[in-house]
Amino acid sequence: MESLLVTGGAGFIGSNFVHFLMEKTGVRVTVLDKLTYAGNRESLKGVPEDRLELVVGDIADAALVDRLTERTDAVVHYAAESHNDNSLQDPRPFLETNIIGTYTLLEAARRHGKRFHHISTDEVYGDLELDDPGRFTEDTPYNPSSPYSSTKAGSDLLVRAWVRSFGLQATISNCSNNYGPYQHVEKFIPRQITNVIDGVRPKLYGAGQNVRDWIHADDHSSAVWAILNKGEIGQTYLIGADGERNNKDVVELILTGMGQPAEAYDQVIDRAGHDLRYAIDSTKLRNELGWQPEYSHFEQGLSDTIAWYRDNEAWWRPLKAATETKYAEQGQ
Ligand code: NAD
Ligand code: TYD
Repeated sequence: MESLLVTGGAGFIGSNFVHFLMEKTGVRVTVLDKLTYAGNRESLKGVPEDRLELVVGDIADAALVDRLTERTDAVVHYAAESHNDNSLQDPRPFLETNIIGTYTLLEAARRHGKRFHHISTDEVYGDLELDDPGRFTEDTPYNPSSPYSSTKAGSDLLVRAWVRSFGLQATISNCSNNYGPYQHVEKFIPRQITNVIDGVRPKLYGAGQNVRDWIHADDHSSAVWAILNKGEIGQTYLIGADGERNNKDVVELILTGMGQPAEAYDQVIDRAGHDLRYAIDSTKLRNELGWQPEYSHFEQGLSDTIAWYRDNEAWWRPLKAATETKYAEQGQ
C-alpha cells in the first residue's frame, strides 16, 4: 500500500492516524474532510507537504469521491458526525454523513475495486449493565441507543452488505472511547480539562456512574494499521485496551492531576437515553493479528493528555466559548 484516502482526517482520531502514518510508515495520504465544526486544519500541522494532500469536500459528493478513490490504493473511512449530544438535538446531519456518506464511499470503492476499511464504534452494541461480568465481542447483537449510534450501526451493516453482495474487499473495526491530543472540547475528557484550565468546575452528567472503556488514540491507530495490513477481508475486529473507568473516577483523576480537590465538580442534567456501560473484549484482534496497546495505564495517558491541552491552548481556545454556550443552553 503506497497511498491511502483517509476520510475525516482533520478530525480527532483521523488526524492522529495521519500523524501515526507519517511516523511509522512511508505511505502518502489524501485527506478528504468537509471541515465541519469538528474538523481542523491545525490538527495536521507539521505533516510533511510532500506526503499529504488535504481535499476539503463532502464524502456524500459522488463525483469528488469517485475521483479520489480511483487514484488511491485503499480507503480508510473515519469521517462522521460523531457526538451523541449533538445527535439528540439534530439527527439529520448524522443520517446524511454517516449513512449517505458511507454509501457514497462504498459505491466508489466497489466501482474501482479498492480495499476499504470502515471505522466504527462499540456503541452499535448498545450498553451493558454495570454489574454485568460480560464485555462486547464481535458476536454481540447490534442494539444502538442514540441517533449517533444507530447511524453508525446502519453504516456498518451497509459495509457488510457490500462485502456479501458485491465482493467488496472491506474490513470493519469497532473501537471503544478514545482520548488523546486534538479531541474537540465538546467531548468528555477535553471538556473537563479545559474547564479546569479556565477555572470552571467540571460537569458530570447525573451521578457519573456510567462506565466507558478508554483507549489512547495512538493505540487505535496501530490497531487500524494492523487490520489494514493483516486483517481478513469481510471480518469485524473490536478494538479496546481494558480501560474501564466510571465518569466520576475520570473527573476526579483530572481534578487531582491538575492540582484541584477531587470533589470540585458539578452534577448537571443527565443525557437522554444515556448508555450505562461499554466494555470491549479485544481477544480476536490480539490473538489473530498480534496487536497490543502501548498505553497500558490510563492514568499515564490521561496525564499526557492534560499536558497536551495545557501546552496547546492556541489549538482549542477558538472552540471553547461556542461549545460551552451550547451546553449552557441545554442545562449541561
Ligand atoms: P470528529 O468529530 O473529531 O471528526 C470527524 C471528522 O469528519 C471531522 O474532521 C469532520 O470535519 C469530518 N466530517 C464530518 N462530516 C463530513 C462529511 N460529510 N464529509 C467529509 N468530512 C466530514 O470524530 P472522531 O472522534 O475523530 O471520530 C472519527 C471516527 O471514529 C468516527 O467514524 C467515529 O464514529 C469513530 N469512533 C470514535 C470514537 C471516539 O471515542 N471519538 C470511538 C470509536 C469510533
Ligand atoms: P462523550 O465523550 O460524549 O462520549 P460517548 O457518549 O460517546 O461515550 O461522553 C463520555 C461520557 O461522559 C458519557 O457517559 C457522557 C459523559 N459526559 C459527562 O458526564 N459530562 C460531559 O460534559 C460530557 C460531554 C460527557
